[in-house]
Amino acid sequence: MALRLIFIGPPGGGKGTQGKRLAARGFLHVSSGDMLRAEVESGGPRAAELAALLRSGALVPDEWLFAVVGDYLRAHRREAVILDGYPRTLAQARHLGGGTSIDAAVFFEISDEVILRRLGDRVIGADGAIYDLREYPPPEGVVWSRRVDDDPEVTRKRLALFRGEEAELRDFYRGAGLYRGIAAERPADEVSAQINSLVDELQSAALSAEPAS
Ligand code: AP5
Repeated sequence: MALRLIFIGPPGGGKGTQGKRLAARGFLHVSSGDMLRAEVESGGPRAAELAALLRSGALVPDEWLFAVVGDYLRAHRREAVILDGYPRTLAQARHLGGGTSIDAAVFFEISDEVILRRLGDRVIGADGAIYDLREYPPPEGVVWSRRVDDDPEVTRKRLALFRGEEAELRDFYRGAGLYRGIAAERPADEVSAQINSLVDELQSAALSAEPAS
């Protein structure tokens, strides 16, 4: 069965790290940030405007996300999906819908202090792998770079934007009965274990709800 999970959490909360790990369980890892960065790379008509928004840490207008993410989901409607970083506004959550289109909204619960440490040490490998210079360093020889929006001032702005939106999102998903909080400050393997057990639980529930053939 094709589960649909959304990952909601602050920048540096570990959404991308866990999304990539879940891909090994057959999920498509759909990161709105990666999609937007790919649009910048493609040099399309909005590339320059988009690049400036990403560099500044501002949110991209909802309508742009509706198009980019909506097209992708329509094209992959039968597949198991992790939506990483979308929705991040109430308008996006309403547009995506409540219980009918997703199985759980996984909130990465983590303090600002840990976020700021992590994003100061984050580097990205040439193949897109995510590393942490202190905790999960790149193997020797790997070429890496920093994201432009991991500049400390921009990080603070991104974090403030998330903190401003999260209460409404939490209320929305609590109201829909889909909220699942995870302790995202734990080491990455422990966070994976929490998410894997949630996926197991949702898969068993979906199987037992299927009519017997
Ligand atoms: P996006 O790319 O989505 O960035 P983000 O949400 O700010 O999240 P990050 O990618 O920074 O962090 P993450 O949670 O994935 O953490 P990671 O796994 O890398 O968005 C970028 C921009 O695009 C936005 O600012 C906005 O402009 C725009 N945008 C995107 N979606 C949008 C939307 N829906 N609406 C409007 N605009 C949108 O981990 C971080 C670090 O910690 C890494 O170094 C990692 O190795 C380390 N780490 C991970 N887990 C652990 C752990 N458990 N213990 C110790 N270290 C860990």
